[in-house]
Amino acid sequence: MHKKILFVCLGNICRSPTAQAVFEKTISDKNLPVECDSAGTAAYHIGKAPDKRSIAAAKKRSVDLSSLRARQAITDDFYEFDYIFAMDKHNLADLKDIQPEGAKAQLLLFLEPVNCKQNEMPDPYYGEQDGFEIVLDLCHQASDYWIKQIV
Ligand code: 4NP
Repeated sequence: MHKKILFVCLGNICRSPTAQAVFEKTISDKNLPVECDSAGTAAYHIGKAPDKRSIAAAKKRSVDLSSLRARQAITDDFYEFDYIFAMDKHNLADLKDIQPEGAKAQLLLFLEPVNCKQNEMPDPYYGEQDGFEIVLDLCHQASDYWIKQIV
């Protein structure tokens, strides 16, 4: 059955576009009925392309983020998507604040199944380039897990 998945972080310019594109790449050669999008809980970067450092780190792994544009997560997303994956617990709490009762989306931490600190994707925005590599590593691990669960 066709599934829709939304990846959510704070700004929608580092972690969630990376998660979206890694997930899409992981399913791309499998011809699976899955549609992905990403969003931020904050409005700071609406309409912007992903962070240059995220684009560069992903490109080295043949993952292309350049065409993605940031948007803010909205209540309707809970009716539209089957799964909403938060990158950290702040994102999860902010999403719970706009989650309507009875909507279909399952709201989960993307790194719930990954053995890392607190099951959270570390925010690389104020850090060095290695933070962006860690995000990519974690996105690959979580994507491999969720594809088996969801599809
Ligand atoms: P993201 O990273 O949530 O992974 O997109 C951030 C992007 C921007 C900001 C913080 C985190 N900011 O404060 O502008």
